[in-house]
Amino acid sequence: MNSWATWGHDLHLDLSERRARGLGLRAALEDALREAAAGASLTPGTRLPSSRMLAADLGIARNTVAEAYAQLAAEGWLTSRQGSGTTVADRAVRRGAGSPAPASPDAALRYDLRAGHPDLDLFPHVAWLAAARRALAAAPRDALGYSDSRGRIELRQALADYLGRVRGVRTDPDRLLLTSGYAQGLSLLSAELHARGAHTLAVEAYGLAPHRAMITAAGPATVPLPVDENGARTDLLPGVGAGAVLLTPADQFPTGNLLHPTRRAAAVDWARENDAFVIEDDYDGEFRYDRQAVGAMQALDPERVVYAGTASKSLAPGLRLGWLALPSALVEPMRARKAATGGQSGVLEQLTLAELIRSGGYDRQVRRARLHYRRRRDRVAALLAERAPDVRVTGICAGLHAVLRLPGGLPTEEVLVERAYRRGLGLQGLHAFRHPLTAPDTLPPSLVIGYGAPPERAFVRGLEVLGDLLGQ
Ligand SMILES: Cc1ncc(COP(=O)(O)O)c(C=O)c1O
Repeated sequence: MNSWATWGHDLHLDLSERRARGLGLRAALEDALREAAAGASLTPGTRLPSSRMLAADLGIARNTVAEAYAQLAAEGWLTSRQGSGTTVADRAVRRGAGSPAPASPDAALRYDLRAGHPDLDLFPHVAWLAAARRALAAAPRDALGYSDSRGRIELRQALADYLGRVRGVRTDPDRLLLTSGYAQGLSLLSAELHARGAHTLAVEAYGLAPHRAMITAAGPATVPLPVDENGARTDLLPGVGAGAVLLTPADQFPTGNLLHPTRRAAAVDWARENDAFVIEDDYDGEFRYDRQAVGAMQALDPERVVYAGTASKSLAPGLRLGWLALPSALVEPMRARKAATGGQSGVLEQLTLAELIRSGGYDRQVRRARLHYRRRRDRVAALLAERAPDVRVTGICAGLHAVLRLPGGLPTEEVLVERAYRRGLGLQGLHAFRHPLTAPDTLPPSLVIGYGAPPERAFVRGLEVLGDLLGQ
């Protein structure tokens, strides 16, 4: 894979993606080559085609290629010698040249199948701009001033209606708090629960390490609750000594299972009996494919369950728009905590989202995204059925990722992740999500792949590489 023949094959596609992100042709070519030389996609010594040949291949001016080669040679990534052409410089020379490191270790990933990211190409630019225009025209004068740190009433009203209608959430605008993504809501809640005596927060044994880190940074320690095919073992809550529990009931992250009704009831009963709270992270509750979406568990007891939602999957993480539907006892303290962070999220985004929801544009967006992700999920399942039939695909009824259980005979999670990485494919081992207090062999070796993020062509190529890796 680390030769020009295989890497160069995708250069066309790579360039058009970079150009779509606003880079000029030469800058896009330089970036692509730099990334390949910095990562493992092109090994030291790889001989590049002549500038004339590459220019002809890509259908661009020879000068553009020659200038890009010259720039990268000056930076130390490439070596150009009269008579022997242009090659990828060896590692020592590249380090010694003091060239800038790639933007991040992820820069070498051309096919990113890591979980947790939506397809940014699905963002509804036209509908969003139209909603923004309408929202701004209708905004009252005071909208641009300082306002309620719970967030704009227009969005809280629209969300209360939407969440009630689509997710069965029982709330009203007064009990909604807008946050900078789910992440800020989790931080503020953890601090508030800690202040109320919850020194330990139970979390699912497999989950996002950054979220666990946010909790501990805010005060509470975390303790793991085992997860199985029925979601988190909330029946064990009475024995873990926690003052609150964080769950992903609609789509356990990352195993992809639905929290069983008896487990939902067990969590709510435990919270009632122990004056505790449940945090329901409903990060992708709208994306359920084969059956009717399962309603939010918050409806079982709105005074014990904090419902947390986000626009990160349905629209884009960059908006940083999240929301909490709070029990009455937490409204005022959480408003004060949000105010203490410096106030509200951006008003224009809030008003725009409110208008998008009110006008039906948000429902349309969710429907469109759901169809798109369902098709991708089906393609993942079809590819694996064909290329790696022994790999069991689970967790695909909902969400934007799947869990691939590795049969005996395949290398370990770590080895597969490393091999994939060397081929420019990003994916994760299930055990990368394990809480440190959970035994390593609790769940069988598996890979977690997100099918949301990559642009279409990279998704297709990424699947091919995945098939190569898992096919026996
Ligand atoms: C489990 C889980 N919860 C919540 C979120 C959303 O987080 P935020 O709204 O901070 O972007 C994500 C996004 O990846 C997630 O994977």
